[in-house]
Amino acid sequence: MHFLGGGITWLQPLRVSLSLGSGVGRVAAGSLAEPASRFGQLGKCRFSDAFLTCVSLSVRGLAPAALKLDLEQKLFGQHLATEVILKALTGFKNNKNPKKPLTLSLHGWAGTGKNFVSQIVAENLHPKGLKSNFVHLFVSTLHFPHEQKIKLYQEQLQKWIRGNVSACASSVFIFDEMDKLHPGIIDAIKPFLDYYEQVDGVSYCKAIFIFLSNAGGDLITKTALDFWRAGRKREDIQLKDLEPVLSVGVFNNKHSGLWRSGLIDRNLIDYFVPFLPLEYRHVKMCVRAEMRARGAAVDEDIVTRVAEEMTFFPKDEKIYSDKGCKTVQSRLDFH
Ligand SMILES: Nc1ncnc2c1ncn2[C@@H]1O[C@H](COP(=O)(O)OP(=O)(O)OP(=O)(O)O)[C@@H](O)[C@H]1O
Ligand SMILES: [Mg+2]
Repeated sequence: MHFLGGGITWLQPLRVSLSLGSGVGRVAAGSLAEPASRFGQLGKCRFSDAFLTCVSLSVRGLAPAALKLDLEQKLFGQHLATEVILKALTGFKNNKNPKKPLTLSLHGWAGTGKNFVSQIVAENLHPKGLKSNFVHLFVSTLHFPHEQKIKLYQEQLQKWIRGNVSACASSVFIFDEMDKLHPGIIDAIKPFLDYYEQVDGVSYCKAIFIFLSNAGGDLITKTALDFWRAGRKREDIQLKDLEPVLSVGVFNNKHSGLWRSGLIDRNLIDYFVPFLPLEYRHVKMCVRAEMRARGAAVDEDIVTRVAEEMTFFPKDEKIYSDKGCKTVQSRLDFH
């Protein structure tokens, strides 16, 4: 993961190194802006390990069965997200000639697994996952905190994306807190998301962009609650039950950042991935998973105690966890 420091210094070292024919050297941030033709002279290049890793990964491709197993075993209570992500990634990776990069927009209530899924996806695409040189995580409030520096951020981000996709076509870019992202930043990445064969000599068609936000989380939750109140099973919620709600609340809502950015009306988002609010039973599953991850035996008394410490809503029915599974880890430290 390129988890870069805040402020203007974030576009620092690019860990991908590509040794060019004449002087051997690291592709530093400054040189990322250079024309892609430099990267295009592959006949003269000595490839770095990182580059070769990227190529071998592209050849190996995605193992859909492994991704499916990961999602089914690790991600709790998200049958829709599991279905959409599997379909999206398998289809994209099977396509030898995609016309645009894959763009996924993950929506949902706090602590329901959006970052967690991004991590699973990253690991299935690049073995080192978020630590890979080919996976880049941007957090709006951390990396783009100052409105007056938008122009600088735009330039740096474009260079970053361009440099990294030049070095590894199957790079993954994750934008967290999309609802807090300045529209100017979205504008800066828009050209990369479109149906262009190449932008200034670089093809972005094999890259993957994942956007995370809470936008629409309340509407998704309301639908889940309607199902619950009607005595219907959560697993029976289908994408078509959420589409009309989301299209009014997020896709056609002029106040929504996504709409204003033009990403939606220009059809640049390939898949909207809804995350349902988590119930008491899911929180318990998270506690058990965390205990196992710590190498401890699962103690059901502690599982119950941790789950009961969480707060649930709505006030009367207390069905959904306020923070999803988000505070499970820290709460477990107290037991
Ligand atoms: N559906 C889930 N299945 C399994 N574990 C989960 C799930 N949701 C959350 N968790 C656990 O809780 C932690 C926090 O979740 P995560 O950071 O993915 O939430 P989020 O949806 O990104 O929330 P926010 O909108 O607040 O950023 C995860 O690292 C994971 O351990
Ligand atoms: Mg998150």
